Amino acid sequence: MAIRIEKRTTSKLGDVDFDNLVFGKIFSDHMFIADYRDGAWQDARVVPYQNLQMPPANMTLHYAQSIFEGMKAYYQKSGKVCIFRPDDHAQRINESADRMCIPRIDPDLFKKGLFALIDIDREWVPKKEGDSLYIRPFVFATDEHLGLRPSHTYSFMIITTPVSAYYGKGLPAISLMSSGEYVRAGEGGTGEAKAAGNYAASLYPLELAQKEGYDQTLWLDGKEHRYVEECGTMNIFFRFNDELVTPDLDGSILRGLTRDCVMTLAKEWGYTVSERKVPIEEVMEGAKNGTLKEAFGTGTAAIISPVGKIRHDAEVVTVGDGAAGELSQRLFAELSAIRHGGIEDTHNWCALI
Ligand code: COI
Repeated sequence: MAIRIEKRTTSKLGDVDFDNLVFGKIFSDHMFIADYRDGAWQDARVVPYQNLQMPPANMTLHYAQSIFEGMKAYYQKSGKVCIFRPDDHAQRINESADRMCIPRIDPDLFKKGLFALIDIDREWVPKKEGDSLYIRPFVFATDEHLGLRPSHTYSFMIITTPVSAYYGKGLPAISLMSSGEYVRAGEGGTGEAKAAGNYAASLYPLELAQKEGYDQTLWLDGKEHRYVEECGTMNIFFRFNDELVTPDLDGSILRGLTRDCVMTLAKEWGYTVSERKVPIEEVMEGAKNGTLKEAFGTGTAAIISPVGKIRHDAEVVTVGDGAAGELSQRLFAELSAIRHGGIEDTHNWCALI
């Protein structure tokens, strides 16, 4: 499908303070749009970033038939831009689409739209190491209809925003409070999909954690409230001595791509990497007896986010010495170097444009 291009006449780039980027606050000059109607994706276009018009009965507003991806593009000294793992994101958005009854997007259309947009707005990719252009592909129902059923029409859009470190520079450690009676996802639910509604459901427990002075929620499973699933909007890893452990994908956990990068690198570096159930008691005990050397969250936005403190019920433990551990730091540095072209991309994770 050909992509129509309509350029802005003047750029907003001059208004951007690249030394003080706030996550998701300013958006680049253009956006990509394709519409689904009459059973097919059509009218693919890159147009100036603009507001949307929709009827009050737009189905997404009522029933949240909406999914998204989080991706990043990185500046390389050669002048090229690395779009990180676009094929994997194209695949994952379609896994989410299946679960939410949204029509699949041809991976070619996904990539063509993405590459056209990043190419037009390539000056928006921050040049400082560690900074990046956050890319947000999303798909949502557009029928004007209040009966509950899958929509017949949809929009697929991609917008981008230049960003710096999500939790601040220098890998600051975050604190977690376990989710208590609340859960992020249940067995058979939508936890594995990157569905907008999952994020809405996470807000109230997050508010409770933040009222108690914690940065993020440590999500436990929906059945026994005992097994660790995720933290905040991230996958989670625990390093017990030389074993790196992350909860296994059981349908309620997002198949994170940073999670996959971390497992791949850690295996190459000689760690035993296990995907298995992680009881919260093992984490709390490990922190107390010193076998839990470090813990960290992984996600596109935050990349690697060390965990310094965990509260579960009435108990609070410090992980390691409460700061970023050696593996967290090594992973962060390695991923950054691969993305910015400082070392060879042996896994073919970067699509260069
Ligand atoms: C990401 O890491 O890209 C996410 O989806 C988190 C987002 C809520 C900022």
